[in-house]
Amino acid sequence: MSSAITTDISFCQQLLKEGQLVAIPTETVYGLAANAFDKKAVKKIFEMKGRPFFNPLIVHIHSLEQLKDLTECIPDNALKLANAFWPGPLTLILPKGDKVPDIITAGKSTVGVRMPNHPLMLALLKGLPFPLAAPSANPFTRVSPTSAAHVADYFGNRIPAILDGGDCRIGLESTIVGFDNGKPMVYRKGGISIEAIEAVVGPVDLMTEDDTAPQAPGMLSKHYSPRTPLIVTENVSEILNDYRSKKIGVLSFSKIDFPDATVVKALSPKGNLEEAAQSLFASLHALDSAGLDVIVAERFPEEGLGRSINDRLRRAQN
Ligand code: TXA
Ligand code: MG
Repeated sequence: MSSAITTDISFCQQLLKEGQLVAIPTETVYGLAANAFDKKAVKKIFEMKGRPFFNPLIVHIHSLEQLKDLTECIPDNALKLANAFWPGPLTLILPKGDKVPDIITAGKSTVGVRMPNHPLMLALLKGLPFPLAAPSANPFTRVSPTSAAHVADYFGNRIPAILDGGDCRIGLESTIVGFDNGKPMVYRKGGISIEAIEAVVGPVDLMTEDDTAPQAPGMLSKHYSPRTPLIVTENVSEILNDYRSKKIGVLSFSKIDFPDATVVKALSPKGNLEEAAQSLFASLHALDSAGLDVIVAERFPEEGLGRSINDRLRRAQN
């Protein structure tokens, strides 16, 4: 099978209704989607990604109306966040409704739900009588895809279709927020900054790496990894000095002038964190294909989306 990169929404809807997998665009990263109410179809997602069954999936919806099929009750703070950020890069962890198959939630009593903000994905969802379960469309532990070409590189001949929605506008996975007796807790830093969440619901707790292990097993410390060794540092020039005579790729925030590097990817020459986030994974994909000995990544300022970028870089270290 060779997968069609297509913009034909009804073709993709047909495949999904038949229980097949389709790669879909969102504003964050591309996803690997199946009918959320079809256990057999959802199982194919885990098999295709090589993802352990203990790691739950996010369910994608196009309207608040669809929440009724997925959850029994919505905490007030969850509704506030949904109203503020949906459609958008926010996933809410809600008490699971009976209709949601256990394979999606890995047997947990909660379900992750998100309304993505991408016109093709929303049009696809609106024409389907079911929501779509979708993790990021990368093999387990690898860098997430932010273009149809990235998905084709990973799964090209193994999935029937890739819906091409262009380059992802946000470029980082959604921010995941759960609730402990109604109090919001951030499970994964992502495309919406902690500051923006706190402006809506007040101070939030951040899940530490130790907490995350049992709660959100997908947040394994090694994740988002290129095959090329990657080092994160405050001082790129010092590491360049240590690795002289090696082929080095530099991933910097804004600086482009590193004379000892073989390749330099500056994520935002004008120093804008949103722009940097947007090109992070595409730059990692490009550096990983450049035949380098090592990738040296500059640590970002710990503010706004810089915190989410640092989270991904830390997990990409290998
Ligand atoms: O932006 C995104 O969120 C993308 C696009 C495709 O929507 N999706 C995505 O899915 O990043 P995935 O599967 O790569 O990451 C989902 C994360 C995993 O870390 C998983 O453990 C966590 O969400 N998760 C899902 N359901 C959960 C639940 N009920 N409780 C705790 N964590 C959950
Ligand atoms: Mg993922």
